This record gives sequence, C-alpha cells and structure tokens, in this order.
Amino acid sequence: MTRPYPPEPFRIKVTESIRLIPPEAREAALKEAGYNLFSMKAEDIFIDLLTDSGTGAMSQEQWAALMRGDESYAGARSYHRLKAAVEDIFGFKYFVPTHQGRAAENILAACLVKPGDLIPSNMHFDTTDANIRARKGRPANLVIDEAHDPANPHPFKGNMDIAKLKAFIAKYGREKIPFGMITVTNNAGGGQPVSMENLKQVADVYHEAGIPFFIDAARYAENCYFIKERELGYKHVSIKDIAREMFSLADGMTMSAKKDAIVNIGGLLCLNDESLFQDIRNELILREGFPTYGGLAGRDLDAMAVGLYEGLDEAYLAYRLGQTAYLAARINDAGIPTIQPAGGHGVYVNAGAILPHLPNYEFPAQALAVELYREGGIRGVEIGSVMFAYLDPETNAWNYPKLELLRLAIPRRTYTQSHMDCVADSLAEIKTRADKIRGYKFTYAPELLRHFTARFEPLNM
Ligand code: F0G
Repeated sequence: MTRPYPPEPFRIKVTESIRLIPPEAREAALKEAGYNLFSMKAEDIFIDLLTDSGTGAMSQEQWAALMRGDESYAGARSYHRLKAAVEDIFGFKYFVPTHQGRAAENILAACLVKPGDLIPSNMHFDTTDANIRARKGRPANLVIDEAHDPANPHPFKGNMDIAKLKAFIAKYGREKIPFGMITVTNNAGGGQPVSMENLKQVADVYHEAGIPFFIDAARYAENCYFIKERELGYKHVSIKDIAREMFSLADGMTMSAKKDAIVNIGGLLCLNDESLFQDIRNELILREGFPTYGGLAGRDLDAMAVGLYEGLDEAYLAYRLGQTAYLAARINDAGIPTIQPAGGHGVYVNAGAILPHLPNYEFPAQALAVELYREGGIRGVEIGSVMFAYLDPETNAWNYPKLELLRLAIPRRTYTQSHMDCVADSLAEIKTRADKIRGYKFTYAPELLRHFTARFEPLNM
C-alpha cells in the first residue's frame, strides 16, 4: 500500500495546548481585530498557518544545544560550531550571522546598492524588494511565464527566464547591476523550486557579464529535495551534495534561518569576496553586532548549527513536502483550486476562483481568510489585493494583482495529518456556502504595507 502521506518521522515529547474557541467568541475576536488576522491574539487561533517562518518545532538535539550556548561577546564556541556547519554545507569562504533574513539583505544592500541600480531575480521576496528600494535601487522579477499560470504543472516553476535575463543585462548594462539574485524556492510565486540546470544557466549569464550572483537560500533544502525528486540525474545524489553543487555556482547567499534551519530566530550572509566581506563586517558591527554573534545570542547560533543538518535530513524532507502535497490534494479533491503543483512550504488557495462574485476591490482572498477563521479557527494570510493593489500615480487608477490567493504556510514539525484534514474539511465546508460570502471594505488603511495594520468592515450583499 502506498500511503498518501508519509508518517511524521518524529514523536511528540513536549506539547503546547491549542483550542478552538466557540463560534460566538470567534466572531467577537474577528470584529475586535477589524477583520484583520494579523491583529488577532494568537491564543484565539486553533491552527496557525500565517507563516512557516520561525514557527517550527525545534528538536531535542536543538534544545540540548541551547544549553551549550557560549555567550562570550567575541569568538564564542557557539560561533565556531555554527561556522563549521556553514562551511560544510554551503562552502563559501566567509560568513556572518544576522538576527534574521532581512538583516542579511539590509547589510548586503547597504554595501552594494547605489541609487538607480537594478537587481534582477526570479522573484524577490517582499523584504528583499523593500531593502533594495530603501537604497533607491530597483528590484526586477524575471521568472518564467509559466509561474503566472496557477494551473500550469511545470515542475520547476521558480525558474528564471534566461532570455529575459540576458535581455535585461543587455538593456541596462553591468555597471547598473551590482549583483543578481535568485530565490530558492520561490516564495512569492507559490513556493516553487528552481532546477539545477536553470541555476547553472543563471550563474553562467551573471558571470559572463561579470555580475556577482547571490542566492536567497531561505528554503534551499526544500528546493534541493525537489531537484532530487524531479530532475534527471539527481535521484541518487544526497541532499547535502545537491546543496553543495547549488552553492558552488554562486558568489554568496542571504538566508532566513527561520525556515530551513528550523530555528525560531536567525539568519546568514555568506560570500567569497574578501574585500566585500570587510565592508559587510563593518556594516554588521554598526547594525547587528560583533561579527561572531551578529544580533543573536550564543545559544541561537548553536540551535542553528544543529538545525541546518536536520533541515537536510531526507526522511524529514519527504515528510515535509509530503505534508504540503497532501493538504493541497485534499483541498483539490473538494473542488477548490490551488497553485499547481503544490509548493514546498505552503498551499496557495485560489480565492478568486472560489468567490468569483467578489471583484478585486471587495478583497476575495481577505474574505476567504476571514471565513476560514470563522469556520475552523484557522489563520492563513491574504496574498491578493489587500497586500498588492496600488494606486498608479500616472493613471490615477487602481492596479490589481493577477491572482487573489490565500496562503496556508505550514510550520515545520508542528502540526499533524489530522490538523491538515481539519483545514481541508473547513475549506470544503466553506465552498458549500461560497455564494453567500460577502466582500470587505477598508475602514482604515495606511499607505504602505497596509495588510499588517488595516481594519475592515464586511459589505452588505
Ligand atoms: N526571503 C524569503 C524567500 C522569505 O520567504 C523571507 C521571509 C525572507 C527572505 C525574510 O526573512 O523573515 O527572516 O527576515 N518570509 C516569511 C514568510 C516572513 O512568511 O514568508 P526574515
């Protein structure tokens, strides 16, 4: 018998209680939060799929490692243990720890981005995009066209469009492009992987033009597992060897360790260029801390050193990606479309397809997010017009994103198969009354990053 879902390769030694509060209490909590799930109390949430970032469960080995944390200001043993793991897995000459991924991006951008510079990638994550813009640079997303078609089952939908990348470099010139990037897996595009073949081509194009190549490695281990499963020639290669090959193509990387290093806080910035490393160290001292702790406690460095290896474990990755695929399949079985194929860290529900009676300006993905909380106490995150619609200053018209999505991001080693069933069953239940679900309007919205603090009110039918 083939199981639809690999059994969890761990047993549970410590538990954290969660509870589904009664429907009236959920309704009151929604109202108080202005129908914004970011404004809710975590204790009022039953299954929290807001993000997979820093929300995973650490192992007994990681908790044990915390006790070994060396809190020396400089040259701590914890730093040297992390350094050994980072060198072994990623193979770059230099690295600094940072308190999380966006801190690594900030330091890289501070050292390299000048006003008017352009930074290409497949798709930048929001914080990378914002860190480039904060230095008056311009991020550019050059992912393959298939990434924009939610039904297209392309196995490497995170790939960069090589023709677009070449044309981009030819148009703007090397002088305007201080470095190029790629995000593995592509979070902004549905957690979709990049193939090794594409990474090689991207590296060649950057290097032929003399442009340093940095990888956003937040979910690199999940990407490596997809390569092993889907790309010819990798079936018998270990995940660590796939990772070594991946990073040997690049000149550096930024990483949020809150994802594939399975820690609650931490980040990395790695590179090979010595003079850039000196600039980075100076910037780090100013913003994060001394280069051997980079804004973290010694114990955090130790937990990361252990978590980096656990994130590469094949039984863990089979379960991890199997869990995501299982949730997507169960949701699809209920007749609800999600971005195909299932991504690594989450399921992206096509809210526009479930609530076709709601136009973009009535925020269908927000309406579905609210309804999923109402139904099952489950929190996802809207990735649609609340997050991305903007008023075009030239035309004075609203510009809406192509898709209205609800992301259900799965924390690592945290929820079980029955929690996933609960999520799928709640969505199936919502589908039966979808035509009665109302849209929303803002009662408060800041100009920038409005999804975090906006307040809403339901519209009348
Ligand atoms: N890069 C990617 C691809 C990410 O997904 C994230 C964070 C970051 C960088 C920034 O890292 O949060 O440690 O500063 N993504 C989280 C999410 C927040 O929910 O997808 P950070």
